[in-house]
Amino acid sequence: MKKLFLVLIVLPSILIVQMAVANEVKIGVTAPIDASDHASLQRGAKAFINNCLNCHSANYMRYNRLQDIGLTAKQIKDNLLFAGEKVGDTMTVAMNPKDAKKWFGVVPPDLSVEVRARGADWVYAYMRGFYRDETTPTGWNNIVFDKVAMPHVLYELQGEQILNHETHKLELVKPGKLSPSEYNAYIGDLTNYMAFMAEPGKQQRQQLGWWVLLFLGVMLVLARKLKAEYWKDIKKGND
Ligand code: HEC
Repeated sequence: MKKLFLVLIVLPSILIVQMAVANEVKIGVTAPIDASDHASLQRGAKAFINNCLNCHSANYMRYNRLQDIGLTAKQIKDNLLFAGEKVGDTMTVAMNPKDAKKWFGVVPPDLSVEVRARGADWVYAYMRGFYRDETTPTGWNNIVFDKVAMPHVLYELQGEQILNHETHKLELVKPGKLSPSEYNAYIGDLTNYMAFMAEPGKQQRQQLGWWVLLFLGVMLVLARKLKAEYWKDIKKGND
């Protein structure tokens, strides 16, 4: 019986934990996700809309959901919508998929739930992990996505990195408009926004969770009091 327990429960658990740890080491960074930081989410939304929707869609995301992160319908309309779009529209892609296929060899995937598919840490590492590689068609490669077909669209901000093949670390060889810590913060906001987009109801759900726990706590106190009350009468009846 003990052996069976060991084989069926303990060993697989150890394996899973080890796999998780191995994954962690490979990515090596933790995305600064904070669903309650509306200023960060707003900066991230702007970065996403300005830089990513040329090639990617976010078909499950409607512009008016940006009201959940503190923007008014007017702000969304004035600052984030391009000609012809309405606040109720979803975030569609500017590029025709056929052209995309011709240019990149693959159609850039919809990014609505990318963070749920890959994890926030991965996306955070990916957007910081582009480096120069003359052997690829775009001239770029990526430390967490080998031979990626996406060019480094934010290289003006980050600058240019190369991969040191001895240390297997990235080195900034040409600075961009942002310092490395500013760029990390920029990508942090972008990833925070993409995490919100992948699960817009998360914050509400977590808040609801606290109310449920509070309710259960109050009920516990009341139930105990009620029980004491009932038993008092029963004890009296026995006397
Ligand atoms: C010039 C077009 C273009 C732009 C602009 C662009 N991408 Fe991409 N992206 C691609 C292509 C093409 C791929 C597919 C890469 C592959 O499969 O090799 C891709 C892949 C990705 C992936 C990996 C998807 C996966 O899980 O396989 C992520 C994440 C991503 N892009 C994020 C972004 C973000 C965030 C932005 C905005 C800052 C952005 N992209 C802007 C073309 C683009």
